Amino acid sequence: MASVTSLSDSVQQHLASALSATLPEAAGADPLLRRSDRADFQANGILALAKKAKANPRELAAQVVSEVGTGDVIKDVEVSGPGFLNITVADRAITGNLAARYADETGRLGVPTAAHPGTTVIDYAQPNVAKEMHVGHLRSAVIGDSVVQLLAFTGENVIRRHHIGDWGTQFGMLIQYLDEHPHELDHKAAEVTGEEAMSNLDRLYKAARKKFDSDEEFKTRSRRRVVDLQAGDPHTLAIWQKFVDESKIYFFSVFEKLDMEVRDPDIVGESGYNDMLAETCRLLEESGVAVRSEGALCVFFEDIKGPDGNPVPLIVQKSDGGYGYAATDLSAIRDRVFGLKASTLLYVVDARQALHFKMVFETARRAGWLNEDVKAHQLAFGTVLGKDGKPFKTREGETVRLVDLLDEAIDRASAVVREKAQELSEEEIAERGAQVGIGAVKYADLSTSANRDYKFDLDQMVSLNGDTSVYLQYAYARIRSILRKAGEVRPVAHPELDLTEAERALGLHVDAFAQTVAEAAAEYAPHKLAAYLYQLASHYTSFYDKCPVLKAETPAQVENRLFLCDVTARTLHQGMELLGIRTPEKL
Ligand code: ARG
Repeated sequence: MASVTSLSDSVQQHLASALSATLPEAAGADPLLRRSDRADFQANGILALAKKAKANPRELAAQVVSEVGTGDVIKDVEVSGPGFLNITVADRAITGNLAARYADETGRLGVPTAAHPGTTVIDYAQPNVAKEMHVGHLRSAVIGDSVVQLLAFTGENVIRRHHIGDWGTQFGMLIQYLDEHPHELDHKAAEVTGEEAMSNLDRLYKAARKKFDSDEEFKTRSRRRVVDLQAGDPHTLAIWQKFVDESKIYFFSVFEKLDMEVRDPDIVGESGYNDMLAETCRLLEESGVAVRSEGALCVFFEDIKGPDGNPVPLIVQKSDGGYGYAATDLSAIRDRVFGLKASTLLYVVDARQALHFKMVFETARRAGWLNEDVKAHQLAFGTVLGKDGKPFKTREGETVRLVDLLDEAIDRASAVVREKAQELSEEEIAERGAQVGIGAVKYADLSTSANRDYKFDLDQMVSLNGDTSVYLQYAYARIRSILRKAGEVRPVAHPELDLTEAERALGLHVDAFAQTVAEAAAEYAPHKLAAYLYQLASHYTSFYDKCPVLKAETPAQVENRLFLCDVTARTLHQGMELLGIRTPEKL
């Protein structure tokens, strides 16, 4: 493990020990170090500490300064304003730090892994069987996939669960129809595409619905099917399985288009908890967490009331004996906590399900399934809006099919790639078009904080200027092209060289990658990483504008600048990978 101490951490350590030497009661206090425009870092923590110790903040700061001294890392430290510290880091320390990151043979750029990782079960990318995927499913998949990468990168043990909607009363009608029309899902060709699978399901769904609405006897037969399904009747289950399999063909095709790995064993849908439902209800009822109310098994909450002021309960079992969404989620919690030994349960689900999860989590806490050691969190995301700021719909007012949207993004991106392309073949244009288009969709989603709604605006998403993935992909490709042009000249770090302002700014920002990843993972906030990468590309652009690389003054400087280019490229590449976005070598 070649983990590298970041410059901010070394500075922080120097300050903290100087602080506790000056003021023993401040031992362990945080000097509150930030990046700053005035110097490299500014520490603001002394103000509060001085206040507490009834000392003069500027005097205390001056004492700390003389205690810190300067050395390998800190080149200069001075008191500023009411008692801040401005710290400048030595050029040699910056280059040395980046060189250590560059040399990390694990390719992790010196980013450490957690000493005591936990196990997170993450519930994301959960479409519904026999239904189209829509933009809401896109958000869960894209955000979830990035959080999986981020957590895994920090060393967390991550278990994925795709809680697909594959159970419930709606299947009665579908199964009954297919049983009466047994050849409807037979395939003419050996290979069925995702699109075909979905259109088969869609056609079947519409036909079944029509019959259900017009034929009372069919309706009765369908209702009986639900009972058979829940009782595990083999023939009924076999037909149900056909729907699940057909849907999976479709899901996998969409996830593949999204350039995202979804593994079959991680798909544990609602049906996977069917055997636990009765037991879950029994445990809740026996412990008194749930009570019978008008025949239904309910959990009540002090603070959750409907518009009429009456309490709104969580219904775990309906009065007809049926189990719903809540019973499944509560059973899934038991499985994830006791079976998978999770320390964290994470749910990447639409914010509109916040009340459901609030009630489910609180119920699980009362039952003792969640506690100090096992936490649950909904990573709630906002709605995807159209350009008009209203929930994204087609002109006919229907929800937009995810595949259509992705295809359009790829088309637009391909046009952009084609226009800029210099030495790309048609095949390469198609490949890059997909990488740019899918990257654009993912980045637009990941660069705003998840809980906010965002506008789906393809023109903006594939724009070369501004905070887009295309901008980042071009920055990466440009760096790679410089490195290719350098030919025989290799990137080599020269810590003895003085750095320009632009080089320092770039170097310090590269160093902050580790901290950014740690924060983004801890807060489940990919947007922090996205913002970091955008700044990285901007720092790189100003470096490139101001500092000739291949035409630098001395051979050592050429090597050192190539080294800065390469360490930036690797950081961009690693960061984009954590967002699930490709960085083509040429664009
Ligand atoms: N299938 C659900 C939907 O499309 C999302 C499932 C979320 N996960 C869960 N454990 N309830 O809305």
